[in-house]
Amino acid sequence: MKILIINGPNLNMLGLREPEIYGDKNYSALCRLIKKTCNDLGVDCEIYQSNHEGAIVDKIQDAYSVFDGIVINPAAYTHTSIAILDALKSVSIPTVEVHISDVSKREDFRQLSYVSLAAIKTVMGLGFDGYKVALEYLVEYLSK
Ligand code: DQA
Repeated sequence: MKILIINGPNLNMLGLREPEIYGDKNYSALCRLIKKTCNDLGVDCEIYQSNHEGAIVDKIQDAYSVFDGIVINPAAYTHTSIAILDALKSVSIPTVEVHISDVSKREDFRQLSYVSLAAIKTVMGLGFDGYKVALEYLVEYLSK
């Protein structure tokens, strides 16, 4: 089983970026947690981060018939990107959406998630552990 993990804009700035919201651990620490989780679950994974909407669309398109599942934190594009939603719908790869913070308790402009419309589940507010929960859910879903 192959899982693609996609992280959107500014997630490479974790650790520096608003630590009161996102914590003080950096992006490398997040990647280590993701790799360990995938290793424990016995699945292959690739982790991809981009600050560019079109690059994320390209990556989702390229995942077709290569990856069995996607975990995506689209970051700010969550709330704006119909292009990422359409890409996910185009490839029909089971996708779990994850957010480090609890977006439901934040600003009004974060209350809409386009990606949710294509996701089988959304995990939010669990910090980095949300990726673990998302991966476990996805692997269980794909194993059925
Ligand atoms: C985020 C929440 C988004 O609203 C924000 O733009 C991010 C990160 C999260 O992981 O909590 O960049 O997706």
